[in-house]
Amino acid sequence: MRASVLVTRASFPDIVDRLRTHFDVSDNPSDTLWTQDELIERLQGKDGAMTAGSDRIDARLLDACPQLKAVCNIGVGYNNVDVAACTERGVLLTNTPDVLTDTTADFGFALMMAAARRITESERYVRDGKWITTGRFDMLLGADIHGATLGILGMGRIGQSIAKRGAHGFGMKVIYHNRTPLAPEVEAQCGARYVEKSALMRESDHLIVVVPYSASSHHAIGAAELRQMKSSATLTNIARGGVVDDAALAAVLKEGGIAAAGLDVFEGEPRIHPELLACSNVVLTPHIGSASVATRRAMARLTVDNLVAALGAGPDAGRPPTPVNPEVLRTPA
Ligand code: DGY
Repeated sequence: MRASVLVTRASFPDIVDRLRTHFDVSDNPSDTLWTQDELIERLQGKDGAMTAGSDRIDARLLDACPQLKAVCNIGVGYNNVDVAACTERGVLLTNTPDVLTDTTADFGFALMMAAARRITESERYVRDGKWITTGRFDMLLGADIHGATLGILGMGRIGQSIAKRGAHGFGMKVIYHNRTPLAPEVEAQCGARYVEKSALMRESDHLIVVVPYSASSHHAIGAAELRQMKSSATLTNIARGGVVDDAALAAVLKEGGIAAAGLDVFEGEPRIHPELLACSNVVLTPHIGSASVATRRAMARLTVDNLVAALGAGPDAGRPPTPVNPEVLRTPA
């Protein structure tokens, strides 16, 4: 009997259709956002699922779907999935690392620059017709990127890629904080220097947050950290909502505690803290860090490769390319 899989969100039919060669596929072409109970209902009897960050894969869901063997999440982050609960039940989880590193680093840089140089504020100014009547030499002054100090919180693949852009492309001084400092040769390639977190907060002209979300990174940037920052500094979050305390950030932005922020991710997204929506010195984007055509297609391809292999089909049967909990593969069924 053919295995059956659920594709929870719409993406690229020409890529996802490859699943139909191997499996019976149920999908969601209208891209409806299902409730948790609807997701559980649709997963009944399914052997695998291609999921996204908006799907919560927790113990209750796994217990209600005992046939599920593989959850292949499209995205490098997987804080929507209870990994321990998957592993305990022998469910394989895969993600999509590497293919999105440079695209997401490009985007982090773009968002930082947009915040520092007030790009979206300037765009609103032009659209409102104000340039014609009130354009002045000293209008919409921002902060330089070149020569400034770039701070990076979280120095994984994306953090390192951002560091290289800053150090080698824009002549920035790059400092970072990470749970574990990088090996000296990797630091040298990145042109970056390890500092304690308090020094990162105090010294950065532009701080980018790239640390994955976990219980230990919840509100890693809160009121106390924000108070340590320069009033001329910018903060960019491309990591996950919840790593930055959005309410504290809104308050600090309103008081002029920092100059500007660039936010691609939000606590409780797609909801956005109303005070952030009211701030003119924040650039807001809808979680599109990896959203280039080539990269989103590569993520979809990798997710399909993972699902095909995880369910024992295709040339890599039993060897999905990017497992998060590979120990499940070693446990005999
Ligand atoms: C990722 O890959 O984790 C992106 O944030 C998309 O969810």
